[in-house]
Amino acid sequence: MQLPNYKEASKRSREKVEKEQYHLPVEDKNIGNNKTYYLKTYGCQMNEHDSENIKAILEEMGFQEIDNYEHADLVLLNTCSIRENAHNKAFGMLGRLKHLKQERPDIVIGLCGCMAQEEGVVAEILERYPQVNFVFGTHNLHRLPIILKKYLDTHKQEIEVFSKEGNLIEGMPVKRMSAYKAYVNIIYGCDKFCTYCIVPYTRGKQRSRRKEDIIKEVETLVKEGYQEVTLLGQNVNAYGKDLEEEYGMENLLEDIAKTNIPRIRFMTSHPWDFTDKMIEVIAKYPNIMKAIHLPVQSGSSRILRKMGRRYTKESYLELFDKIKRTIPDVSISTDIIVGFPGETEEDFMDTLDLVKHCRFDNAFTFIYSPRENTPASRLVDNTSLEEKEDRLQRLNQIVNQYFLENNQKKVGTVERVLVEDHNENGKTDLFGYTESNKLINFNGSADYIGKIIPVKVTETKTWSLDDEIYK
Ligand code: SAH
Ligand code: SF4
Ligand code: F3S
Repeated sequence: MQLPNYKEASKRSREKVEKEQYHLPVEDKNIGNNKTYYLKTYGCQMNEHDSENIKAILEEMGFQEIDNYEHADLVLLNTCSIRENAHNKAFGMLGRLKHLKQERPDIVIGLCGCMAQEEGVVAEILERYPQVNFVFGTHNLHRLPIILKKYLDTHKQEIEVFSKEGNLIEGMPVKRMSAYKAYVNIIYGCDKFCTYCIVPYTRGKQRSRRKEDIIKEVETLVKEGYQEVTLLGQNVNAYGKDLEEEYGMENLLEDIAKTNIPRIRFMTSHPWDFTDKMIEVIAKYPNIMKAIHLPVQSGSSRILRKMGRRYTKESYLELFDKIKRTIPDVSISTDIIVGFPGETEEDFMDTLDLVKHCRFDNAFTFIYSPRENTPASRLVDNTSLEEKEDRLQRLNQIVNQYFLENNQKKVGTVERVLVEDHNENGKTDLFGYTESNKLINFNGSADYIGKIIPVKVTETKTWSLDDEIYK
């Protein structure tokens, strides 16, 4: 048994991170033969991409995916720690699985992802959830076959969570969700330690993948017919800072643009490391999408300082305006937290003021949620939940108004759309995403799926656009 340890997880060493090639680490490739699995993923794109690896690893062992957990032989939850409600969802599911295990005692239950890295969560599993058969963390998903086999051999709860990030694992198998859009990790972990955030403890120190490995992966995707890659990292702008070579995000973006993959996205960008060179490269290459996610978190410089964000309202606006000036038609989205400890009405008004200036294309808004072991969780917080909910509502009203306004500007224009699939709601045949990442619903034949086609915007809703194919 190896349990998570925050002290270890907080350390940042200068030790060089080596890379290691993945190979199925168990000899028995038939562990999962005639067995099914159900994998539930919570959280961000990084977790979704981890799940794509986990699925492929399970399938290498013979397991087959099904979409109903009640009938699965193995149920695995890939969890997220970012806010309390992500926790609640996962524990709610564990509650249901507890009952299922009473009916079907041979079902195997596993938990992985960011919550597995939390001391409190693992302590609770040890105390209250003996039904959870195995637990592994974000640094050892390549060891899933060993951990699972150990449980199957011994029938004893197996917990293996590393708090120190190990080597970079290359060549893990992957079962991608889409045949047209792919996630590509470029940097793992985070060293920013924003005071409210648990990610630096659950994902370890900042480690960049080698550029050769990233470019090779994108080249393979191009050959396989992929239309879009999203480069992933908690802060992609920090790419390369931990490597010896002078090679940063701007260089990587440029080299990936040269692979001729039709669409490149990247997320997330911390405003702190956003260089002028990056702005130039984004403006220069047509296959780098002009859509930037630039989380601001707050419009109050006082709160930003307490959050440890390393920029002020003014410097954020300076960067924002520069990006808008240099990249015509760029769409910028953001994340905002309301109710950080000590946030006053005046601070909140600063946030509204910033939002009114920026008129974001999209904004994800959250009420601050105290996370175990983070510095902000130890701050005095006198604002009532009622007040925080009120602020969130006032903020959302403004945010949605700009969202609709930005969408309305598109009416009559022709957008290039990557057609994803049939529309499940049945109102229109197809859906896809524009270059600026807006959802678009329209009618057309299934032949368009997987292609980038021009579509004319005819009508807008707050959350999406309705369109017709441009002929
Ligand atoms: N690496 C990204 C953020 C990843 S988490 C960045 O730095 O921008 C996604 C979003 O969740 C954050 O941008 C923040 O707005 C929100 N978030 C993170 N921790 C939170 C907390 N403790 N309470 C509420 N929201 C939080
Ligand atoms: Fe969390 Fe800040 Fe790192 Fe983003 S940059 S993951 S908010 S610590
Ligand atoms: Fe959640 Fe972990 Fe992502 S905490 S947001 S799954 S990095």
